[in-house]
Amino acid sequence: MKLAVAGKGGVGKTTICAGLALALAEQGERVMAVDADPNNCLGYALGIPPEKLEGITPISDMKELLEERAGSAGGGMYNLTPEVADLIDRFKVSWGNVDLLVMGTIDRGGGGCACPLNSALKQLLRELVALPGALLVDMEAGLEHLGRGTAAAVNAFVIVVDATPAALRTARRISELAAELGVRNIWAMGNRVSTPEQRQEITNGLGSIPVIGFVRVHPGLSEHGVFSGEAGQRLKEDLCAALDTLRNQA
Ligand SMILES: Nc1ncnc2c1ncn2[C@@H]1O[C@H](COP(=O)(O)OP(=O)(O)OP(=O)(O)O)[C@@H](O)[C@H]1O
Ligand SMILES: [Mg+2]
Repeated sequence: MKLAVAGKGGVGKTTICAGLALALAEQGERVMAVDADPNNCLGYALGIPPEKLEGITPISDMKELLEERAGSAGGGMYNLTPEVADLIDRFKVSWGNVDLLVMGTIDRGGGGCACPLNSALKQLLRELVALPGALLVDMEAGLEHLGRGTAAAVNAFVIVVDATPAALRTARRISELAAELGVRNIWAMGNRVSTPEQRQEITNGLGSIPVIGFVRVHPGLSEHGVFSGEAGQRLKEDLCAALDTLRNQA
């Protein structure tokens, strides 16, 4: 199972990405969890102790290393498939059955061409997709990253939505862009859904995007280890049900 988790800001991407990773890990799978969001919250959501997370530099910030790998040091030419596979083992943090790689995203501000850096990150994502085991990528909110092509390396998207027009609108746009990029499997997951009316709003608002599950509102959900406490156990139930549906559809 190789999934990129996308959706509007604040909709619950990190919570659901971490929860899916932990659920798969508990079921005995080796899971690679990739944090592709500039906020770098995924490790905490996975419950990795803070002392293992503090001081991690996102790979996207290792500009010299990435430029060197992309071979862009001298002039405008650069390598479209740079050697980056070794960076995975070098920079991942292991926690039980889960490996975390803080990949980050390329800073679009400032001068200079980000193409060699993007090329290296895109290749890194391709290497990650090719690894055995499950892959879960916590994507940045918004749509810019899709256009830059890193998303094209992942062949399945789970778009998180809640029952608000803005989240549904963003989900439809992400789905369109992902389809244009050749992403084959696009699913949605409803979050913070407590009533049958909200389920209906989500299903109607998504049109032809299939919904693989609904996560209820779980007051008191922790951002440090999303399965901790009673709220975490209920989140786990919701996500295990969604994983069963996904396995039947995939
Ligand atoms: N089903 C839920 N029930 C209760 N709280 C939730 C639920 N889903 C998410 N939350 C809470 O909502 C907040 C935002 O969730 P999260 O950080 O996962 O969103 P996000 O989409 O990753 O945000 P961002 O776009 O900033 O990265 C967190 O405090 C999280 O604990
Ligand atoms: Mg997040």
